[in-house]
Amino acid sequence: MELFGVIGNPISHSLSHVMHNAAFQDMNKDAIYVPMHVEEPDLAAAIYGARALGFTGINVTVPYKEQVVPYLTSLTPEASKTQSVNTVLFTNNEIIGHSTDGAGFAQAVVNELDIKLAGKRFLILGAGGAARAIIHQLAEENCQLIIANRTRHKAEQLAQEINPNFANQVQVISLEQADLAKATATSEIIVNTTSVGMEATIDQSPLPVELLLPQHSVVDIIYNPQESNLLAAARKLGCQTRNGVGMLVWQAVKAWEFWWNIKPDVDVMYAALNKSLDKN
Ligand code: ATR
Repeated sequence: MELFGVIGNPISHSLSHVMHNAAFQDMNKDAIYVPMHVEEPDLAAAIYGARALGFTGINVTVPYKEQVVPYLTSLTPEASKTQSVNTVLFTNNEIIGHSTDGAGFAQAVVNELDIKLAGKRFLILGAGGAARAIIHQLAEENCQLIIANRTRHKAEQLAQEINPNFANQVQVISLEQADLAKATATSEIIVNTTSVGMEATIDQSPLPVELLLPQHSVVDIIYNPQESNLLAAARKLGCQTRNGVGMLVWQAVKAWEFWWNIKPDVDVMYAALNKSLDKN
């Protein structure tokens, strides 16, 4: 039996095992995927332990995506670009780190909104770890990007990384209403990558909802709740809306391709996740 899993802290909320195990079963794979809680001082032991136990691969989630890098023998270009790893492959001699977050997000948007990315104008809310992967990927796909983040220098740092290579595609703005209003007026797709809309901020929106326009497509990478405050307001206005299930599924699809060079049934993964979320 092949072993897979995800390491993180906390990990009890993770639904990754639900979709991976559903897809394994669907394809008659003799494999199992388990969520694994790891404390920070044990991170190296967890990576080397997974290798010693014969794991084929693991995923890495918050807060370890950057912290695992020193324990890996090599990084793919995708992981190297963002210095962030969400997928690890164990081979005979190597522990290879890869990142499927950016490509997973992009693929989810392309499929779910049925669009081509090149030239699309995005307003990205947030500049944390998830935003970093998304923004690097969208820049490569030749999108026009505006970033607004509570801590402005993090957004500026991202713009500085990207702009020398991509003809000034990334613009940073403040979270002031006037700046946001200008940005929403020129953007086609609004993406929330912040945690505003989850848990303690479940009743809040990362963007004043009066700035939404019916022609916007709005993507929130939050999937629990399935419809954030922002998405609910956008849907009521007639916007096309999508939650974070798509990104979760497509980053997993791309992890399968990295581990096994095969593609799972995407519909099986979506169904397993949505069923599990419906129960919440
Ligand atoms: P992740 O890996 O999920 O992206 P993260 O790196 O901690 O998590 O990033 C969280 C993002 O949500 C950041 O953009 C953060 O803004 P800061 O860079 O200013 O910390 C944003 N965020 C979290 N709570 C927020 C809040 N209450 N209001 C506005 N932005 C918030």
